[in-house]
Amino acid sequence: MENREQWGSRAGFILAAVGSAIGLGNIWRFPYMAYENGGGAFFIPYIFALLTAGIPFMIMEFGLGHKYKGSAPKVLAAVNSKYEWLGWVQIVIAAIIAVYYAAVIGWTMNYLGFAIDGAWGTDTKGFFFGEYLGLTSSPTELGGIRWPIFGACALTWGLTWLACNSGIRGGIERACKILIPLLFALVLVFIGRVITLPGATVGLDFLFTPDFSKLTDFGVWAAAYGQIFFSLSIGFGIMIAYSSYLPKNADICNNAAMTVFINCGFSMLAGIMIFSVLGSMAHSTGQAVSDVAGAGVGLAFVTIPAAINTMPAPLFFGTVFFLCLTMAGVSSHISIVEAVASSLIDKFGASRQKAVTVLCIVGFSLTAVFTTGAGLLILDIVDHFINNICLLFAALVEIVLISWVIGLDEVREDVNAHSDFSVGKLWAFSLRIITVLVLGYSFLSSLYNKITVPYGGYPMSDLVMFGWSILPLAFLVAIFLQKKQSHKQFQHYS
Ligand code: PHE
Repeated sequence: MENREQWGSRAGFILAAVGSAIGLGNIWRFPYMAYENGGGAFFIPYIFALLTAGIPFMIMEFGLGHKYKGSAPKVLAAVNSKYEWLGWVQIVIAAIIAVYYAAVIGWTMNYLGFAIDGAWGTDTKGFFFGEYLGLTSSPTELGGIRWPIFGACALTWGLTWLACNSGIRGGIERACKILIPLLFALVLVFIGRVITLPGATVGLDFLFTPDFSKLTDFGVWAAAYGQIFFSLSIGFGIMIAYSSYLPKNADICNNAAMTVFINCGFSMLAGIMIFSVLGSMAHSTGQAVSDVAGAGVGLAFVTIPAAINTMPAPLFFGTVFFLCLTMAGVSSHISIVEAVASSLIDKFGASRQKAVTVLCIVGFSLTAVFTTGAGLLILDIVDHFINNICLLFAALVEIVLISWVIGLDEVREDVNAHSDFSVGKLWAFSLRIITVLVLGYSFLSSLYNKITVPYGGYPMSDLVMFGWSILPLAFLVAIFLQKKQSHKQFQHYS
């Protein structure tokens, strides 16, 4: 029997899974998504998606990793060697995310420095796109490496290397045991201070005021499901890899529910944090909250710095905010790299140190492209296609394959054997019917949308090179890897 590493404790595993789930998306994506899709009313589709897709899917992925003791390709090969490719498709997507996610963490690290010396000035937009990123006019016009970003990315990859190289218990678990409690504490301290500023509660009103008319819009429900999948890091082979290090008698259902609820709780806190800041800014500049609300890169690197300029104690707010983003990002990055590393270790019998070191060197070299003046433009296209096409596709194929073709019985048996509460018909119905229908709809409508309206006004050649090519590329690599001779333990599980 194979001697697989194990988590040191249950809390350690949950903190690591939560560390993967809580990422930049919780802070810069969730609050705006809730605000735009019905405010307080959004919590109805969100909670519904959480119960019918988030927890069931998480139980399934934890169950697969736990039962077959392997990374996604190994699990799928163990189920049926014909399906190994799907695991690799997920892993290639995860690897691409690892490359550009590191660049964004690099920006948050640089901004942590700028918060200290006030380098972003008063024109935060001009500073970010001009002086800092040196943005070029096209994704193919690279415009040279920006050295502060390059240095911060090296640090990001270095930290991830340190955690993954030191192993499950000694590296990843130890890192998440520090990062996640500290992250919660910092967000609470931030909220405790910001909530006392004039205008902060007006911002919260904007976030939470329910608009129930939105609930009749199916797009809002699809958005809630999309957010749940992205936010929980499911469909990338990440949670499968993490749960493969669980001990034999681990309680899968409880662990899954806890991971999902903690992630959801953090999203709410992030919503309160962001909208209090926006409310306070709107109050001091005389604007409406709706004028300053936004998401993503623009929110984190342009609006929030501008808001912090208008707040008392900018040093406190600036450093805490960017520290939170950095910590949330690093713990997710570790999980993405671990998913890829564990697949290589399983398949080729490589040592952890060798697999992680090679991955981090290659990953960092590729991240260098995102540290050039065209970095943001390339990242924008890659990220859009990953989130709107690749992620939906990978999760959809996984759920159809496992719940319809292979069947859920074996996983269910394994999961129920050690869990406090057991899963049955409702769980299977959620996965086989509800999740398949919503993911199927979301994928097809997103695909149609992308075909009819070229994303972001970029030239088709750029969209093909950085967007449309990802999935075919992932397939080619996956088929190549499936055909490769595997290490002897790959097909066996106990
Ligand atoms: N779940 C993370 C977030 O919400 C993002 C993430 C995506 C992490 C994919 C790992 C893999 O930001």
